[in-house]
Amino acid sequence: MTDRVRIVEMGPRDGLQNEKAAVSTEDKVHLIHLLNQTGLPAIEVGSFVSPKWVPKMADSGLVFDRIEKLPGISYPMLTPNMKGLEAALAHNVQEVAVFAAASESFSQRNINCSIADSIDRFTDVCRQALDAGLKVRGYISCVLGCPYEGRIAPQAVADVADRLFRLGCYEISLGDTIGTGTPVETRALIQAVSQKVPMDQIAGHFHDTYGQALANIWASLDCGVRTFDASIGGLGGCPYAKGATGNVATEDVVYSFMQSGVETGIDMERLLDAVEYAAKMVGRDVSSRVGRALLIKRAG
Ligand code: HMG
Ligand code: MG
Repeated sequence: MTDRVRIVEMGPRDGLQNEKAAVSTEDKVHLIHLLNQTGLPAIEVGSFVSPKWVPKMADSGLVFDRIEKLPGISYPMLTPNMKGLEAALAHNVQEVAVFAAASESFSQRNINCSIADSIDRFTDVCRQALDAGLKVRGYISCVLGCPYEGRIAPQAVADVADRLFRLGCYEISLGDTIGTGTPVETRALIQAVSQKVPMDQIAGHFHDTYGQALANIWASLDCGVRTFDASIGGLGGCPYAKGATGNVATEDVVYSFMQSGVETGIDMERLLDAVEYAAKMVGRDVSSRVGRALLIKRAG
């Protein structure tokens, strides 16, 4: 049987939240319109977070209102608290995401509260979102290492995953925020989390800082994970993880799967249109090998 994976596009949110270049609302909307043509099933649009904490996401509501929403594609928004959820409801968002961490220090730096307090917050957010008919995704940061605490035990991640899953998150996305994880560690992580969350409700969210993301994706695939987050052109980083680079590039993941007979449903040519535009938008070459190689080839 052919394997089929689901790729969740992070570029407009995780990517652009930490790019140095000032990207206009119009450019963000245009990038999402290009991504709409690729076959991606989900495109994370932005965040309803404090503009003091993440200034680059301050126009997320405007972007969300302006984009064309195609049937069959979900357009999630990050909501760290009730204020975020209220904004999501006001903008008629259909899917939101809450984000916790497996490390106390990162939780404090990213959302200004302890892990336990964040779960309390998310209890209200999830209840009200689910009551309003929204889908809720749950992220966990620092699953394979923390910039402040170093190594994180798989069991600590599994505990947070269990709590988010019980709040009604339909999927738990495991974030290797600083990209230090390796395939053997990834397997141990997936094994621990899958004791608490069914395998088909686990997603991998690998940043590529140490060049391990694709190897970790394949290790996760071998374990049974079928959903992966990725960012067009490898855009981004994390504002609260110094030195972190972007998510694994969407085109790197699609190329690797496509050449290996794993279905993604994504059209590489249309994806390259978006890669090309993303590079112009942020004023630098894309960091992905596949993006660079295929764009050079396409230019003849
Ligand atoms: P706080 O300062 O504790 O919040 O921040 P507060 O409730 O005390 O409010 C302080 C001010 O923020 C008030 O405004 C609020 O109105 C405002 P003031 O009266 O000072 O003018 N505020 C808001 N404004 C807009 N939207 C909101 C909101 N909430 C409060 N929702 C808070 C707590 C959670 C708000 C803050 O820490 C925050 O916004 N953090 C977001 C950080 C962030 O977005 N990080 C990046 C996303 S996570 C990530 O990238 C990891 C991931 O990719 C996975 C991985 O790779 O690991 C998902
Ligand atoms: Mg991330």
